[in-house]
Amino acid sequence: MLELQEVCFAIKKEGEEVNLVDKVSIKVPRGHFMAIVGPSGCGKTTLLKTIAGLNAESAGTLLWNGNSLSEGHDFDPSEIGYVPQFSIAYDPLTIDESIEAATRLRVKTRNAGELDARIDRALEETGLAAIADRFVKVLSGGQKRRLGLAMELVSDPKILLCDEVTSGLDPRSEREIVKLLHELSRKEGRIVLSVTHSLAHLELYDSILVLHEGRVAFHGPPDMLTHYFSVKDTEEIYPRLATQPSDRWQSSWMKHREAYYEKIEILRTKLIKQGELRVPELSSGKDGDDKDSAASAIRTPGMLSQFSTLLSRRWRIFFRDRGQVFLQLAILLCFPVLVSLFSDKANVPIRSLSDMRQSDVMLELAEQQNVRQDTMKAGSALSGIIMFQVVLLGLMGSNNSAREIAGERMIYEKEKFGGLRPSAYLASKIAFLSCLVVAQSLWMAIFVNRFSPFDGEFGQHALFLLLCNGAITAICLGISASMKTAEQASLLSIYLVGFQLPLSGAVLALPEKIEIFTRPFISAYWAWSGSVEALATSKNLAVKSVISTSITPQSLCLYLLGLHIAVGLLISWLGAKRHQWE
Ligand SMILES: Nc1ncnc2c1ncn2[C@@H]1O[C@H](COP(=O)(O)OP(=O)(O)OP(=O)(O)O)[C@@H](O)[C@H]1O
Ligand SMILES: [Mg+2]
Repeated sequence: MLELQEVCFAIKKEGEEVNLVDKVSIKVPRGHFMAIVGPSGCGKTTLLKTIAGLNAESAGTLLWNGNSLSEGHDFDPSEIGYVPQFSIAYDPLTIDESIEAATRLRVKTRNAGELDARIDRALEETGLAAIADRFVKVLSGGQKRRLGLAMELVSDPKILLCDEVTSGLDPRSEREIVKLLHELSRKEGRIVLSVTHSLAHLELYDSILVLHEGRVAFHGPPDMLTHYFSVKDTEEIYPRLATQPSDRWQSSWMKHREAYYEKIEILRTKLIKQGELRVPELSSGKDGDDKDSAASAIRTPGMLSQFSTLLSRRWRIFFRDRGQVFLQLAILLCFPVLVSLFSDKANVPIRSLSDMRQSDVMLELAEQQNVRQDTMKAGSALSGIIMFQVVLLGLMGSNNSAREIAGERMIYEKEKFGGLRPSAYLASKIAFLSCLVVAQSLWMAIFVNRFSPFDGEFGQHALFLLLCNGAITAICLGISASMKTAEQASLLSIYLVGFQLPLSGAVLALPEKIEIFTRPFISAYWAWSGSVEALATSKNLAVKSVISTSITPQSLCLYLLGLHIAVGLLISWLGAKRHQWE
């Protein structure tokens, strides 16, 4: 039994508390199918989220089988299913793969047989078995809603909350979905609460809750709705609601509610007697004890299991998205080629002054001039090439991770609600991105080295390129985890990379007063400076002779880049933990 006692959800508006859900008191027995209807903006979604625990109630009590959900007895993630209005599946996956991933993330199965059985049952129950191989991106609206339901059913939820799962569907598909929800409520005492705009097919529900301005205007059997509101047709209910304030509707409903609850109970007992409704706990003689074997057996998989499910799904999505693979390959191959085009200039040998003193002063001056010119040419070409590599790797870093979390935030939030650990999620992102970072950085270092051999410690240079790419990837992942939309995250990440070059001081030295504040944040400077220090002495001196920016000892560069990675990951962790449901 789900019971709400004077539940409120308030927000602060212009300094005042406004109740979006106002003193809602309802009782929903097990095995019950309830519609939540009401005009747009009346608080249906807000109420559903309050029941789910996504909105913390500001007053009142929610009871689930007699236990207060407000006092720490939260729903177990497997106990509750929430089907939001948005699609919760990835377009490049098939129905079967989506349901399999949902099962692996939510249910700790004992063996492959149990996993398959759960997937097959979800497919059967939602009528998707025949099209299990079809890709999500080609599904119709109705099929996507079914898939959303199937992905929730894998954990046998005791309570299923659906938000507008029929909106935008044609009348036939709408009826099919309502019938499906009805069937789902007939099994194992499952409560199904469905928010809907539509006043069609109300006869399929056990009860209808009419909300008006966050308050209950009615909750009772569907066939009593028109009588209660004194209208001929259900379509007239919304205009009728507008004829008096919501507190009047609420108080008159409170006067009548017990009589309607009795009616609901009579209908329910009749259905159970006719065998149309199966409520397991009634047969065992207890109403209110939730510890039946099926539910208590369902456990959330461990961190490692969730990590490997997410990682393999990420790679699958990556390889299915041809555009993404092509872009990654193009960047991986073309950026080093671009750098190599300029490698000739860095290969200029630096002539040294001959030991023999020239007899002719003019000749000696000319030789000194030549050496100085060589040094300057080689120095600026080398400095430029290293900075070019660093900035291109920064660009790759931002391309790697700017959309990584922000682009799938709603799906992630939904999966987190279903029991996904943020640690498993973040670890899978780090593992996936690390592969890209290592491939991009090493390939850049090795390829450029072929055409313009790095005169110095090549290993150290490669390490700084790797750390620079890693630092920008980590920081952009942090941005991605903190921003509301993928567009915001992309834009901010591009700015971050765009400012690396001018603020690095490699091209033009910055005024000292500004440099002190900006330099610590510029990954490109630390990677460039570390790489310059890795050059052989003559090349290192050549670079230093052309730049007016100071070079920092390598150990400090390593420390700073490590710090950038750590800060990026910390921001990612905080962003991933934070709830950001819409
Ligand atoms: N977090 C929030 N902060 C401020 N206002 C909010 C918040 N959440 C909801 N609202 C407002 O509360 C009201 C109820 O919103 P809700 O989404 O619950 O309506 P609804 O009945 O589901 O509407 P619809 O049928 O259009 O989906 C709306 O006016 C909405 O703008
Ligand atoms: Mg809504």
